Amino acid sequence: MILVTGGAGYIGSHVVRDLADRGYSVIVIDNLTTGHIEAVDKRAIFIRGDAGDPKLLDLIFKTYSIQAVMHFAASCLVGESVVHPLKYYQNNVVETVRLLQKMTEYQIKHFIFSSTCATYGIPNQSTIDEKLPTHPINPYGKSKLMIETMLNSISASADFNYIALRYFNVAGAHPSGEVGEDHDPETHLIPNILRHLQGKSSYIEIWGNDYATSDGTCIRDYIHVTDLSAGHILALEYLLKNQGRKTAEIFNLGNEHGVSVLEMIHLCEQVAGAKANVKIQPRRKGDPPQLVASSQKIRTVLGWAPRYDIISTIETAWNWHRKHPNGYN
Ligand SMILES: NC(=O)c1ccc[n+]([C@@H]2O[C@H](COP(=O)([O-])OP(=O)(O)OC[C@H]3O[C@@H](n4cnc5c(N)ncnc54)[C@H](O)[C@@H]3O)[C@@H](O)[C@H]2O)c1
Repeated sequence: MILVTGGAGYIGSHVVRDLADRGYSVIVIDNLTTGHIEAVDKRAIFIRGDAGDPKLLDLIFKTYSIQAVMHFAASCLVGESVVHPLKYYQNNVVETVRLLQKMTEYQIKHFIFSSTCATYGIPNQSTIDEKLPTHPINPYGKSKLMIETMLNSISASADFNYIALRYFNVAGAHPSGEVGEDHDPETHLIPNILRHLQGKSSYIEIWGNDYATSDGTCIRDYIHVTDLSAGHILALEYLLKNQGRKTAEIFNLGNEHGVSVLEMIHLCEQVAGAKANVKIQPRRKGDPPQLVASSQKIRTVLGWAPRYDIISTIETAWNWHRKHPNGYN
């Protein structure tokens, strides 16, 4: 049995499906602050609650034989983390400490953690590998780096294995169109462009067009949520097969391909067959010009390879938005 925290959220719900498809039994804990009960695969056991609730974890760990924990539950809005930092240290760090305390108490020794490229801050090189120093510039990125630091310390002191996956920009939807991205507020570029092209907003904002990039707009690396999910399954199987060998790994998960904001708008227009109304705004503080992953390490160690390119990623997102114009509601 695999315990998935945050399994009602965008990424967690996709991974829960993929785990169930591969025959894993899954139990989900989610407090539904940003997640949706409708997103949780019916094959999983769902418990509404906090990922660090000691009483709930006692109940789960006593009742089920948990082989590994995948920890997606978190607060994840960079801007909000600057305004309300304690919310981020509480929900991301304190809740995770509580979860890890219970895991060590019940000797559950495999952990897969949703980290982020925000741990790198504003890197001084355009392609980012795991050796690059981490200098997060906002409480969200700092909270994730604190958890990585804790994991490292726990694994040095106990029989505890972990893989932290530093995601780049996660995008797209399940190929079935049954689960997809539904955040409120939505801060991610692709859903915001597609919702605009569906007539749900009057314009799409570009935050700065004077960066030192090919067209002046910021460049990001977009990884399809199904490819990301495949990385989690490989990580899980690596941990489960490597019984007896200590694992303490950090892997980037990105597509290794940069797309500018302006290019993304044009690609979405092409997929949706509609024209966007674009508004240029001043630069936002703290936006690095370019963030593109090197995923060489996870390719080599786990044999991971992405299957979706940027057009097929947008197509799956468009399919989800057309089928669910109001999200899960
Ligand atoms: N979406 C991205 O592009 C991206 C990039 C890098 C990292 N991440 C990380 O991936 C993870 C999942 O992100 P997402 O986009 O699916 O976000 P999401 O908001 O859709 O999902 C998070 C889920 O966790 C739940 N949750 C939050 N706090 C909880 C708590 N204390 N106890 C129980 N449940 C709780 C929410 O209700 C939600 O269902 C997060 O840890 C995030 O930091 C996401």
